[in-house]
Amino acid sequence: MPPLLVAVADSPFPTLDPAREVLSRIGAELRLAPEPTPEAILRVATDADALLVTYAKITAEMIQTLARCRIISRFGIGVDNVDVAAATGARIVVTKVPDYCIDEVSDHALALLLSLARKIPFANAQVHAGRWEMAAVVPIHRLRGSVLGLAGFGRIPRLVAPKAKAFGLRVVAHDPYVSPEMFTRAGVEAVDFPQLLKMSDYVSVHTPLVPATRGMFGADAFRQMKPTAYLINTARGPIVDELALARALDAGQLAGAALDVMAQEPPVGSPLVGRGNVILTPHTSFYSEESLVDLQVKAAEEVMRVLTGQAPRNPVNPEVLQQRTA
Ligand SMILES: NC(=O)c1ccc[n+]([C@@H]2O[C@H](COP(=O)([O-])OP(=O)(O)OC[C@H]3O[C@@H](n4cnc5c(N)ncnc54)[C@H](O)[C@@H]3O)[C@@H](O)[C@H]2O)c1
Repeated sequence: MPPLLVAVADSPFPTLDPAREVLSRIGAELRLAPEPTPEAILRVATDADALLVTYAKITAEMIQTLARCRIISRFGIGVDNVDVAAATGARIVVTKVPDYCIDEVSDHALALLLSLARKIPFANAQVHAGRWEMAAVVPIHRLRGSVLGLAGFGRIPRLVAPKAKAFGLRVVAHDPYVSPEMFTRAGVEAVDFPQLLKMSDYVSVHTPLVPATRGMFGADAFRQMKPTAYLINTARGPIVDELALARALDAGQLAGAALDVMAQEPPVGSPLVGRGNVILTPHTSFYSEESLVDLQVKAAEEVMRVLTGQAPRNPVNPEVLQQRTA
């Protein structure tokens, strides 16, 4: 039998050693595409038994040419860069790692909230430019008693909630797929989307990017928010309509925003770049040295499980596994 081959479509990691170490246990060889273009990816993936992918787009056309692939394992939580329907059609299981960075992203959302509330980046820039005065940062409001609205109440916002409560924030959330018991257990009030927009001083976005959430934060949503409210997005860029956000900020419909994710990354030409009331971080919410090791190990373990006939822990299209055993 030829050794198992695991293709890697793209890697932002300084090293793939943690993944390589896991896969060496089943004698699998790791082969990284020299560049993340469809052609280069297919050159290493066409005959591979598995494909690991971070940000590269894995389209239906590409999936059709994967001759032996049994699993596409994403180094990450969202799988919106993989055509899951096409993978299902090709009987390839797609997996994600839902829990490697939930501490980091929830910390980042809170860090953005605190930075907005206390105007830290703005004040820092003022001081470095020679303005040591309070007038520049006026107004700042007390956090205790403010309302944080969480759009989506999955793994990450469930960690945001207790951290925000430690600062005295009242936490409400909108998630039509979460049970009332879960909200009660978390001590978070369930609200509908219009209520969330109307009552929140901070809105933090934590939904997945799916057709129903694309542009969910657009002109209509911003019109319903408080003019003193701030928007935080650590989820996915296209959930926020950036042009509408820029217009809403210009019109004073909300006070500011902090985004770790953008519709286009890097955000070349975005109308949000260069504003004093907008904080931007380069999609780094997920990152810590520790989370990266967890991510590689967990994604590679999914590959190892599938290639040795075990069930993966986090399949996005589990129906493929049922088809296989049927
Ligand atoms: N910036 C980063 O580095 C980074 C890192 C990890 C995750 N993320 C993103 O963060 C987001 C949240 O991750 P998570 O782990 O909490 O996800 P999760 O899968 O645990 O939860 C998602 C929640 O969103 C809810 N939801 C789905 N559609 C909704 C809608 N229309 N309205 C309201 N709620 C809806 C679901 O019911 C679910 O409870 C995802 O978009 C993920 O891709 C970003």
